Parts: sequence; C-alpha cells; structure tokens
Amino acid sequence: MFNQLLQTIQKRLYFLEVSGSHLFKKTRLFPLIAVLVVLLSACDTPEREEENRSTMSFVANSTDVEDLVGAPMVIAHRGANDRYNESTITAYKIAARDGVDALEIDLRMTADGRLIAMHDETIDRTTDGNGKAEAYTLEEIKEFETVEVFNNQTTVEVIPTLEEIIDTFRDTEHYYIETRLVDGQPVMEDYLVRLLDDYELISQGLVIIQSFSKQSLEKVYNLEPSIPLTLLYRKGKFNLEDAKSVPYPFIGIESTDVSLEVVNELHEVGKKVHVYFTNNDTQKAEQKRVKAFQVDGYFTDYIEYTKELLETEDS
Ligand code: G3P
Ligand code: CA
Repeated sequence: MFNQLLQTIQKRLYFLEVSGSHLFKKTRLFPLIAVLVVLLSACDTPEREEENRSTMSFVANSTDVEDLVGAPMVIAHRGANDRYNESTITAYKIAARDGVDALEIDLRMTADGRLIAMHDETIDRTTDGNGKAEAYTLEEIKEFETVEVFNNQTTVEVIPTLEEIIDTFRDTEHYYIETRLVDGQPVMEDYLVRLLDDYELISQGLVIIQSFSKQSLEKVYNLEPSIPLTLLYRKGKFNLEDAKSVPYPFIGIESTDVSLEVVNELHEVGKKVHVYFTNNDTQKAEQKRVKAFQVDGYFTDYIEYTKELLETEDS
C-alpha cells in the first residue's frame, strides 16, 4: 500500500518535473520569463510570495526530484497488445493491472472530428472493416470491431475513442499520446488539448504527448506549453544533432538507432531517451541491449518481460 502510494507520487513528480524543465528549456522564452518574474516580484502580496517560494524551491530542487524519479518508464505500447487486441480498453486494462508507468495511445481522427485509438492509417489490419479511419464518422467506425487471435481464440472488441479510454482510467493512469497529421495538417491538437484539459489531466501532470511531426508538437506547445513533449524519429532517420537542438525533453528513438554514444550525448544536454521497437522477434534482446545504456523509457510490447528485466540486477 505504502509502496503503491510512493510509486504514484514518484510518477506524478516525474511528469510534473518534465513539464517544468520543458518550459525552462525553451531558451527563447527565457528573457520573457525573466522579465515577468522581475515584474511579478515587484508587486508581490504575502500570498504570492509564498507561492513563488514553493515554485522556486521545486525548480531549485530538480536534481533531488531527478534522483527520486530516475527509474526508466515502462510504457504499454498500444496496451498489453501481446495478450489482447491492441489499442482496446481491455488491452489498456491489462496493462494498467500490470502496473505500467503509462498507457501509450495512437490517435486517428474520424470524418466528424472525433479521436479514436488506432495505430494504422487504415482499419484493415486490426478490424473486420477496411479503408481509412478518417473516411468514417464515429458512428460508422463503431460498427466495426477489432479482431485478433490469441491462443487459437478469436477476440473481438470495439474501437475505443480517446474519451472512453480516459473515462475508464481517469486520473489513475498516465497517458502517453501520439498525435498524427491529418492530410498533412495539424488538426487533431485543438480537440485533444481541450479534452485533456476538461479531464484536468494536464494540470495533474498525467500526460506526455509524442509525435513524429514537429509541426504537431509545436501546435500542442502553443496551445498548452506545460505538456511534456516527445519528438519521435523514424527508424533509420535518427539525427543526433537535431535531437540535441530541439526544445523537447524526451526523444523517442527506434531501438536499432540507439547506441551508448547517442544516449550519453542526449543525457548530457538534459534529454531523456525513450526507445520503441519495430521487430517483435528481436525486441527482447534489444531491450536488454539498450538497458546497458541506461535509457529512460521502453515502449514495450512485452510488459511482463520489461518489468522483470528492469528489476534484475546487472551481473
Ligand atoms: O510511439 C512510439 C512508437 O509507438 C512509435 O512507433 O509506429 O508503433 O507508433 P509506432
Ligand atoms: Ca505510437
């Protein structure tokens, strides 16, 4: 019970800490922030002084926070997709029961502007339908079901909306949400940020947003600068100099592009490295390999394996 509480506090601090450091690392905002701090301190009330003191001590103590939250994140990639249909409520419930640090959710937008959990651009691979997700309204897409076979048993479940997933877990889980451009445009971000805000997930530090699109991340930042952001690089397209220079606290890299040099250099500039995997046959060996480099997060398709790996002392 106590350990669970401690873990929850540590997770909250982790997300809140990166929200803070992200803002302060936006160097072009630094002069503006400095001027605002000077102006505000000139008109401090006793209450405001008290608030400032706690904010400043939080920032000043970020090294202590770092010590507290140093454990790598186990991120449930599309839920527990090794045991249930990916990106369904049941897959996320299994992951949550396993005690992961965050639920990873890929978003697609329907024709009527609703957000659903769906990795591929089309519904062909994971459901009994076909065609692009964005071609259907929410009502239409709810007519299809995800279909998969586990241990010779076929399982079916409807495609969930993001709202349904959040309604299921509320503030009991952390959400690691991936945005995509729609027809080359950043159009899902407005609705997404509004939704997360309505559920008070941003203020509670329960969300990280990730994207392969800098345009999308920039849009999210402009809507809500306190959300921690992850820039993803596609397999074989990782660029260390670019990753070191972008104003995002997390960098998402495909495992085969991860080396000790990459991790060390990103750590040196204060960034955390979250690794994803594209080959299930080599994923476990790859997790073991990158563990030696002290990466900060695993988008895992094998939650139980990753948890055990991270609990095992290195020999
Ligand atoms: O979000 C990290 C990782 O999931 C990126 O790859 O294609 O599985 O979404 P993908
Ligand atoms: Ca993803």
